[in-house]
Amino acid sequence: MIELKQEERRSGGAIPAHIAIIMDGNGRWAKKRGLPRSVGHTAGATTFRHITRCASRMGIKYLTVYAFSTENWKRPADEVDALMKLFHKYLVDSLTDFRDDDVVVRFIGDKSGFSQSLQRLINETEEVSRDRTGMVLNIAMNYGGRDEILRAVKSLCHDCADRKISPEEITEEIFEKHLYTSGQPDPDLLIRPGGEARISNFLLYQSAYTELYFTDVLWPDFSEDDLIRAIDYYSKRSRRFGGV
Ligand code: FPP
Repeated sequence: MIELKQEERRSGGAIPAHIAIIMDGNGRWAKKRGLPRSVGHTAGATTFRHITRCASRMGIKYLTVYAFSTENWKRPADEVDALMKLFHKYLVDSLTDFRDDDVVVRFIGDKSGFSQSLQRLINETEEVSRDRTGMVLNIAMNYGGRDEILRAVKSLCHDCADRKISPEEITEEIFEKHLYTSGQPDPDLLIRPGGEARISNFLLYQSAYTELYFTDVLWPDFSEDDLIRAIDYYSKRSRRFGGV
């Protein structure tokens, strides 16, 4: 668990080291304008690029965005198709886009569910940004919190069967090494625009003590000011991590 030891301050309060965002409301944003849902996702992708840059410039160390869940495959085929095309385009753009901000791009989730070409792009995006030293951006794609926990359990079961470890030796620290976010601090703040107040299978293990911020603003309309409002809300919270 990360203690807020970073000294960076904004509006007089501590800023979170790790922010997670559920980018919700693209479909409704498009519907309000009489446009297809895919247009909402394109607008959402533009917001994603902008907010990533804002977060990096504000000194956030880790940003994790929920781009596609393990459940999103259930959407109509044309919407899934439009999202895959969008991932292609924005991943190509992000190869150069985030270079100036020194952003390290990582993907969390089951990459094997994607086409060969998207998997190649994902690997290339990770590879070219690996040695950067700025904010770490985790893009959750084909990600599910329960799926992540199950994978960790299976991996540990294999380690036990191979006698690399005994069940009694398993600690939280060892368990966390089997999660996609291994080596990263837990999110301090989870932001969900779009008016829903639920976690939707995002970072279930990691968000045990995360502060939650919900807003009715739809993701394509989410601005730098909205990000600052969320951080201000966070900076006024008293975090006790189960203590007093
Ligand atoms: C949820 O809104 C949003 C998604 C399932 C997709 C999010 C993807 C992007 C913003 C594109 C980002 C691109 C990259 C490269 C990371 P919704 O469709 O559930 O909206 P609704 O609740 O209004 O229907």
